[in-house]
Amino acid sequence: MGRVEGKVAFVTGAARGQGRSHAVRLAEEGADIIAVDICRDIESIKYSLSRPEDLEETARLVEKTGRRIVAEQGDVRDRAQLAAVLERGVAELGGHLDIVVAQAGIAGMKGEPPWQAWTDVIDTDLLGVINAVQASLPYLVDGASVIATGSTAALMDVSKVDQVGKDPGGVAYMVAKRLLSQYIHEFATHIAPRRIRANVVHPTNTNTNMLQSEPMYQSFRPDLEHPTRADAEPAFHVQQAIPVPWVEPADISNAVLFLASDESRFVTGTQLRVDAGGYLKWYDYHV
Ligand SMILES: NC(=O)c1ccc[n+]([C@@H]2O[C@H](COP(=O)([O-])OP(=O)(O)OC[C@H]3O[C@@H](n4cnc5c(N)ncnc54)[C@H](O)[C@@H]3O)[C@@H](O)[C@H]2O)c1
Repeated sequence: MGRVEGKVAFVTGAARGQGRSHAVRLAEEGADIIAVDICRDIESIKYSLSRPEDLEETARLVEKTGRRIVAEQGDVRDRAQLAAVLERGVAELGGHLDIVVAQAGIAGMKGEPPWQAWTDVIDTDLLGVINAVQASLPYLVDGASVIATGSTAALMDVSKVDQVGKDPGGVAYMVAKRLLSQYIHEFATHIAPRRIRANVVHPTNTNTNMLQSEPMYQSFRPDLEHPTRADAEPAFHVQQAIPVPWVEPADISNAVLFLASDESRFVTGTQLRVDAGGYLKWYDYHV
């Protein structure tokens, strides 16, 4: 018996990176998957997003585990698109939905035009999570588990004063992640009588295309005009207490799998950091 045997999981941003890793890990443990991803770029964002071939590869990897997958292109900013994918996916995979992993997201540092980047980041990282949850609600069974991807950026108390007006796309990321954390807190509270759980996983630097991108290198090495991966790697360590520049998607998937499974049946409303101790560097002990 797999740890999520017979469950159906809806995963956004599933074409590559963490989303693909979550979909495959859940399938390895017995879940069927409904996967969506935009599979094209968002103009204001200064690194490439996935391509249709990436989503096809996720489907191949899930099918290799022996589980089923309904994989479609869709934009989390558009709730009607998500609803249509879910309607088809749930009908094909047995009429129920047990797990939601709202993973799709973008980083908007130095996005252009700046206020378009603000809009695209808020719409994807905040409204995209809300859309994934709301579109799932008609299908969620009692006892289901909802998992949203936050970021350690939601937890760090960075000085606002230095940032006022400078990089709306970059700041929108922190704003969206904070607000989605509060949304999940409130949702978890009020859905609890149905034994539905909702939690946020907050990854630190994770080894995906989003991290390994020119805008991210620039934000960690603002002293260089065109920093490379080798330039950024030592600077990436600042985010963690355990001496690593980043964690791997599989490290986040293991947390997602735990929260998706019945092993965590009484765990809800948590803000679970998978941050190699980064938070510990920022804050004294408090409850
Ligand atoms: N990589 C990190 O260092 C890191 C750290 C903390 C949090 N995160 C979070 O993880 C997510 C990014 O995932 P990743 O690290 O695997 O990066 P990634 O860029 O490889 O994957 C993101 C996926 O989401 C898809 N996507 C983007 N916008 C979408 C939209 N509007 N609709 C549907 N799909 C869309 C992309 O096409 C891509 O396949 C974001 O939510 C981000 O905040 C990442």
